[in-house]
Amino acid sequence: MPLQNDLILRTARGEFVERTPVWLMRQAGRILKEYREVRASVGSFKNLVQTPELAAEVTIQPVDILGVDAAIVFSDILEIPQAMGLPYEMVEKRGPIFENTIETVADVEKLIIPDPETELGYVMEAIRLTKKGLNGRVPLIGFAGAPWTIFAYMVEGSGSKTFSKARRMLYTDPMTSEALLQKITDSTIEYLKAQIKAGADMVQIFDSWAGILPPDQYQEFSVRYLAQICHALPEDVPVTLFAKGAFFARQALSQLNCQTIGLDWNMDILESRRIIGPAKTLQGNLDPCVLYGSPETIQEKTIEMLDKFRGSRHIANLGHGVYPDTDPEKVKVFIQTVKEHTMKF
Ligand code: CP3
Repeated sequence: MPLQNDLILRTARGEFVERTPVWLMRQAGRILKEYREVRASVGSFKNLVQTPELAAEVTIQPVDILGVDAAIVFSDILEIPQAMGLPYEMVEKRGPIFENTIETVADVEKLIIPDPETELGYVMEAIRLTKKGLNGRVPLIGFAGAPWTIFAYMVEGSGSKTFSKARRMLYTDPMTSEALLQKITDSTIEYLKAQIKAGADMVQIFDSWAGILPPDQYQEFSVRYLAQICHALPEDVPVTLFAKGAFFARQALSQLNCQTIGLDWNMDILESRRIIGPAKTLQGNLDPCVLYGSPETIQEKTIEMLDKFRGSRHIANLGHGVYPDTDPEKVKVFIQTVKEHTMKF
C-alpha cells in the first residue's frame, strides 16, 4: 500500500517537503476520551497492549481525531524486559512495578533474548493490523526503549526520581552492568527488526532517563549501545534517537547512524543545530505545558519554535510526551498551527 502522506519519512531523509510534519509523543493515550473508553472495556493498560485489534484501534485514533502526520504503535517500552523474563505491573497513579529485579550476573544470565514473533507476537500483530487500518494514510512509527532506560527499570524495579539503585550498579559492578546492557541491546535489535518486518515505516528509540547520567557514563553505558542498534537496523528505515535531558550528548549522537535526533524543551534550537550540524533532522521541542495555555499562547509559542527551525530539516513535536490532562482541542491548535504556518515557508 503506497503512502498518501509520507511527509515525515521524507523529512527524516532530508528530502524536500511541502510543509513540516507533526505528531506528538504519547499521542495514543489518556488525553483522548475515546482511548479511555477502549481501555475501560478491557480493564487494564496491559490487556489493551496485548489485544492487537484494540491496540491497533487506539493507535489510529489520533490520526482520525487530531490529524497527526504519523501513528505510533500502541505498546510500551517495558514489553522488552517483560519478554526477557522480568514481568511488570502497571499500577494506576504509581506507574510500572517489577516483582523481580536484576542484582547479580546470575540474574542477567537467566534472562532470555526473546524471539519477537512469538514472545512479542502481540506487538507484531498490532503493527500488521494498524497498517491495514491506516490503509496508507500516514506512516507508522515503531519504537523501543534505549538500553540504558530499560536497564534503569530492570535494576530499580520501578520509576524513581533518582534511579540511584540503577546508577549505583554502574559504579559497583560495571561488568554486570555491561552484560545486562548488551543483552538488552541484542533483544532490542531483534525486536526493532521484527517491527520493521511487520510494517513499521520508521522507528524511535526513547532514552527517557538519559539526563540523569554524567557525560562520561552516558557515553560508556548508553551511546555505545545506541550505536550498535543504529548500525544493525536496515539502511532504508529512518531511525530517531530521543535522549531526554542529554544536552551534553548532542554531539556524540550526531555521529551515529540515525536520521533524526529529538530535542527536549530545555535544549536551545539554534545551539542544537550548531552542535549537531545540518546532516540530521531535528524533532521537537515545544514545552508540553504550553498546551495548558490559551489558543493564542499556543499559536504564538508554536510559531516562535517553527521559525527557529525554519530552513532546516524539522519534525514538529513536543519536547516530551503530551501530559494526560491536556485538552485535545489545545492539541489541535498546535497541530493546525504547524500545518498552516509551515505551508508559507
Ligand atoms: O506514544 C504513544 O502514544 C505510544 C504508546 C507509548 C506508551 N508508552 C503507552 C503508555 C509509548 C511510546 C510509551 C513509551 C514509554 N513508556 C516511555 C518512553 C517515553 C517517555 O514518556 O519518556 C516510558 C518511560 C514508558 C514507561 C511507562 N509507561 C511509564 C513510566 C508509565 C506510567 C506513567 C505514565 O506516563 O503514564 C507508563 C504507562 C503508559 N504507557 C500509559 C500509556 C498510554 C498510561 C497507561 C494508562 O493509564 O492508560
